[in-house]
Order: sequence, then structure tokens, then C-alpha cells
Amino acid sequence: MDEENTLSRKTVLRAALAAGVAAPVALIGGPALARTTAAGGQAPELTPSCHDGDEPTIEQTEGPYFKPNSPERTDLVTPGTQGTRLTVSGYVFGLACRPVNRALLDFWQADVNGAYDSVGYTFRGHQYTDAQGAFRLSTIVPGLYPGRTRHIHVKVQAPGRPVLTTQLYFPNEPRNNTDTIFDARLLMTVRDNGSAKEGAFDFVLDVPQGPTTSAPPSSAPPSSTPPGGTTWAAGTTYAAGARVTYGGQGYVCLQGHTAQPGWEPPSVPALWRAE
Ligand SMILES: [Fe+2]
Repeated sequence: MDEENTLSRKTVLRAALAAGVAAPVALIGGPALARTTAAGGQAPELTPSCHDGDEPTIEQTEGPYFKPNSPERTDLVTPGTQGTRLTVSGYVFGLACRPVNRALLDFWQADVNGAYDSVGYTFRGHQYTDAQGAFRLSTIVPGLYPGRTRHIHVKVQAPGRPVLTTQLYFPNEPRNNTDTIFDARLLMTVRDNGSAKEGAFDFVLDVPQGPTTSAPPSSAPPSSTPPGGTTWAAGTTYAAGARVTYGGQGYVCLQGHTAQPGWEPPSVPALWRAE
């Protein structure tokens, strides 16, 4: 298979963007899990093909704690804020694999004790992507509250388009296995940076962006199994370190899980890293 066909549109866009603009924090100092580079390290094509399984980011329930009219700010940390510092950065893309400028992102989350501020706007804030489609939130790791795993709520909206309401999750959280709302497709990649944490997630919005490429429209089917790995299959339990192939691309499992439809390796970079 042509190497180009193994690249995700997010990978391609990221590499192109990173080459031309200041890299977000999560790109500095080594590859974050979601930020794989082209196999072999070759420069990617600047016009990506959208046929690798990158579907629009899925919706999730808003929950009971959303409040409209949050302040515009990228930093939710104030003097005296308790908790582990966390940055969440990434991009917002549309269906043609291009960044969405001025996309609105409205975040809300619990404090370190798992409580939402229903009176004021603590840990609530909205911001807009820049011309490269990038966003960056400064906050803390949200606390746990009964019945849920750790998560951050967000609404994302391209200008003049419908709102996507969803949630972001943290890898390696024990409650990810019991929270019925949890979905691995919404896992951030998270790494430590000293005492702080750096999360990354890219949104794909179901918004048209003009003419698309003439690339094949669907993801490549799984290919025959090469030596050293089995073909990914839903229902299989994978341990960290397991190797599979999907669409002709090799992947290594980053954390143990039982695969489900929709959790194909290209769709869950927090679970699988392309090799
Ligand atoms: Fe919540």
C-alpha cells in the first residue's frame, strides 16, 4: 500500500501545520500519542485524503451542569485554584480535512473535588480557534463525582453551524471501564510535564468545506495479516503492547481494552499508535 494511504487526515494536517506555525505545547519535546508522524519520517502530502476512518467527533450528553454565557477565556485557573494543572490543546477540522477558523469551544468541568459551580463560572469558559484551527485550554484535572469517570464537557461549533456537544476523557482511568457514557473515541492523549499534565484532542466537525478531493471515499479495508501481527477485530481484548494491523497499517496497543465497533485503531489514538 502506498504510504500516503496510511496517513490520517489529522496526522497530515498536523504535520503541515506544525511545519509552518508555532507548534502547540503537546507537539514539543517528542511525539504525543495522538500526534504520530508519517511512517518513515517522510514529509506528508499537504492535501490529505479523507479515507482513513476519521469520522466526525461523536456527540455525548450535555449532562445537568451546563450554563450558557460563560466568559471568554482560555485559562480557567485563578489564584488559589487547587488541583493538578492541565492543558488541553488540539485542532478543529471540517469534513474536507481543513482547519476551522473561529470555531467556538465552550468548556465546563468539575473542580478538584468533583463539584460544578452552579452559581458562578468557575471552570467554565469559551474560546475560538485561531486561523490554523488550533485551541488551547489551561485548567486543572477535574475531580471525580459519583457515577462518572473523569471527563471535561465541551460544546464545539463552527461559525453558523450546529453545535456539537460532547465530552473528553482521560486514559488509564479505572472508571473508564464502568462508566456507561464513556467512549474511547473521545479519549485525549495525556502526558506528564513535570507536575502538570498535557492533554491533546482534535475535533472533526460535520461541516462542509467546499470541494473535496477525488480520493476514495471510504477507509481501506483490513488487509491480509502480515507476519508479527493479527488483524484488528472488534470484541477482542488487547493488552498494552499488543500489535495489530488495520487497513494495512501496523498499530501497537497503548492501554489494555476490549475493542468495540467504532474503536478502530485510526479512530482512537489514545489506544493505538501507528507503527
Ligand atoms: Fe460532568
